[in-house]
Amino acid sequence: FLVSKGNHRHFMEKEIHEQPEVISHTLAYYLDFSKGTIRAGSAPVDFAKIDRIAASACGTAYYAGLVGKYWFEHIARLPVDIDVASEFRYREMPLSKDSLALFVSQSGETADTLASLRYCKQQGLSIGTIVNVRESTMARESNTVFPTLAGPEVGVASTKAFTCQLSVLASLAVAAGKMRGTINEEEERQLVRELSEIPRYANQALRLEEQIETISRDLSQVKHVLYLGRGTSFPLALEGALKLKEISYIHAEGYAAGELKHGPIALIDESMPVIVIAPYDRWFEKTVSNMQEVAARGGKIILITDEKGAAASTLKTMHTIVLPNTPEIIAPIIYALPIQMLAYYTAVFMGTDVDQPRNLAKSVTVE
Ligand code: AGP
Repeated sequence: FLVSKGNHRHFMEKEIHEQPEVISHTLAYYLDFSKGTIRAGSAPVDFAKIDRIAASACGTAYYAGLVGKYWFEHIARLPVDIDVASEFRYREMPLSKDSLALFVSQSGETADTLASLRYCKQQGLSIGTIVNVRESTMARESNTVFPTLAGPEVGVASTKAFTCQLSVLASLAVAAGKMRGTINEEEERQLVRELSEIPRYANQALRLEEQIETISRDLSQVKHVLYLGRGTSFPLALEGALKLKEISYIHAEGYAAGELKHGPIALIDESMPVIVIAPYDRWFEKTVSNMQEVAARGGKIILITDEKGAAASTLKTMHTIVLPNTPEIIAPIIYALPIQMLAYYTAVFMGTDVDQPRNLAKSVTVE
């Protein structure tokens, strides 16, 4: 097939902008918006009979799974073990037949993820895979395929596949909560309504592009960047750091905000930008106190928050990116957009090959 860049400079830019549309397609597969329910048959797994999810994936897909862990545990009270596939496959983790083995992959061909899938299959587990390429090996070898409808992703740095994976994971967590009786009908309707709002919020996030381009000019001058987040923003911090290093080659690390004082705080000085991902949620106050520790040491803070968070924080920041106030469940999906755009524009300023960064392949089919 031939995919064109259209009017965009890079595939990555195009794929960032496609997100409201492809997320909307993906959600429509799992959710019945008119009834406000999970679509019958879209999650053909009996989550009530499952005692645990054993999940694994690589790179960005792994970070999606990590956000999913918070959702499954919070909404459906279903424990999730998650690991990078290259560790999982050799860990010989004791697996119960009542667990669901869950894999997340854009390509469906990543060698380590595929090996983990085959390992779980041998152990007699039921295999579910969230996958973008329907004809892929993983899709063929799974008992249940949970498709993402992102369309072909060409840029090596994953963007729309990630937010579609998150949309599927959130929908599945709601489906699991319903089957396990941890949410009632009214709560299901409320969550489905909130999920249906993702495309609208994502469009609003895209409007921050100009401001993010300006911030990226500053970022392209630095050597190191730290990303911090708590709760579901923690995997986002990891994803932000991965995206930046992949395409701009700037060294970046993502940390759980609470871990700052256990080591990385030693790195903070006037030359260190710290990107703090902090929607106004139940973790906000704690993250702000971590931000204070950064500010007290002269660290330059770039705060990504919402209107409520911007009003509540009195700290001096170098930049504040203000998103609309979002329901908690959809925040990680909306906050993915500014971190993708930050990485994208920084790479553009650095003049790197955004769609084909050095040393990287779109799909890693070797160990
Ligand atoms: C993301 O930007 C990366 N290029 C990479 O981490 C990727 O997500 C990983 O290799 C997994 O690929 P998959 O989703 O095709 O399995």
